[in-house]
Amino acid sequence: MTIRAELRSDNAAAIAPEILEAIARANSGSSPGYGGDETTARLNSLVSEVFEHEAQVFPVTTGTAANALALSAMAPPWGAVLCHEEAHILANEAAATSMFGGGLALHGLPGVGAKVSPVVVEETLRETPWGDPHNSQPAVLSVTNASEYGAVYTQGEVGELAATARRFGVTTHLDGARLANALAATTSTPADMTCRAGVSVLSLGATKNGAMSTDAIVSFDPEVSAQLVYRTKRAGHAASKMRFHSAQLVRYLEDGLWLRLAAHANAQMARLWAGLQEFGLPAVVQPQANLVFVDLPDGCADSLEQAGVAFYRMRGRQVRFVTSFATTDAELDHALTVIRGHVARDRALG
Ligand SMILES: Cc1ncc(COP(=O)(O)O)c(C=O)c1O
Repeated sequence: MTIRAELRSDNAAAIAPEILEAIARANSGSSPGYGGDETTARLNSLVSEVFEHEAQVFPVTTGTAANALALSAMAPPWGAVLCHEEAHILANEAAATSMFGGGLALHGLPGVGAKVSPVVVEETLRETPWGDPHNSQPAVLSVTNASEYGAVYTQGEVGELAATARRFGVTTHLDGARLANALAATTSTPADMTCRAGVSVLSLGATKNGAMSTDAIVSFDPEVSAQLVYRTKRAGHAASKMRFHSAQLVRYLEDGLWLRLAAHANAQMARLWAGLQEFGLPAVVQPQANLVFVDLPDGCADSLEQAGVAFYRMRGRQVRFVTSFATTDAELDHALTVIRGHVARDRALG
């Protein structure tokens, strides 16, 4: 099938030209491996500047590795991670967190739009049989921003969740596979949305938003950082040519490129959503970032596929559309034209 509109995933997009150029610029001379190079040193200072907090950065190749390794360092093996029941760590990472966490449990909580609420977190922690060895002990709350359904937590919401968790001695992890999209959807600074809101460790996504092959763990907690030095190595994520990972991340964060790329992806989702509303199609939640889960009329998914629109089918008539830094107006116009044609044919047939 010739693809005329790419709406499967933000990782189906290519590499942002700025980042590819940065890799090419880093490709000269020699330098020490495993993060002993100047670019990785620059990455650490840049992240501390961007998040306005002392931080240690661990580039890893996937968001799954970032989540699993971060959480394994934040909780004991008998611990539990609280998260939304549809959180990527629970639903889509093949129990990587439990494996790297030595059996660490994941406890899914309900909530609209894949967002957890302070009320449910509070209730869960209040009802926990603390000190009972028959029950895993909650140690970390993991929050995904933007959420798996494209909803966004405000900095106030993240702060309230982290404060609730802290009252029970539970720390907060943020799955920021799409943190840039969450920031671009709000007026929050990176610091306000994370460390200042009470997040101790962050999985910082980059590949879904223009990088080639790297995400990162950003740790604001020196005790967690000390463990991650060994945990990343043992898991095979201490890249020997780390300078090329760091070069991607430096360029990503420098001069706000990550936020500009995400703002484009979000704007394209807003454009798509405005078009979809014309047909009154129900979505799980109104998209605030760059993804939407929407119910299409019968047969419409087939029409879209036949017309070269790429997307994922979910349950029943529900499909997922994702925009990226590379999504063009022409792609969205094409998809909307196909849907409009399908709806018009349906109406004509009565
Ligand atoms: C919210 C979220 N977290 C983590 C990940 C994991 O990223 P990766 O596929 O790079 O392991 C994804 C991937 O889709 C995601 O959507």
